[in-house]
Amino acid sequence: MMIIKKTSRIKFNNKFLSSISVKFIEDNKEINCKGKLSETLLKLAKDNNVSLEGTCGGSQSCSTCHVYVDKKYINKLEPIQEDEEDLLDMVDDYKVNSRLACAIKLNEHLDGIVLDVPTNSTNLLH
Ligand code: FES
Repeated sequence: MMIIKKTSRIKFNNKFLSSISVKFIEDNKEINCKGKLSETLLKLAKDNNVSLEGTCGGSQSCSTCHVYVDKKYINKLEPIQEDEEDLLDMVDDYKVNSRLACAIKLNEHLDGIVLDVPTNSTNLLH
């Protein structure tokens, strides 16, 4: 009997990826992490002590997970949905590369992504 072990590795650009490399920049400090496929950037940030509050638990209603995405990666993200766009319209320090970390799931195209954490976050639940 042959046992086939499932792995979470995928082949991308002729190399196998078992995790996705992510760099958060917070207060000029780099925090390098390895995330799993389909994991949200918010979960990865929380697991690695990046100070994104995520007050609403990832339900896209607070905006305390606001990040700036490196412009090299902005077009590799899934298109922004209306709910996320509506929230981002109300955050302080909005930029064209603003996104919500709870709305972004890791995939192979995001390997090496760099995210800036804003100094202040806007909590739209208050
Ligand atoms: S955690 Fe609240 S909007 Fe992302």
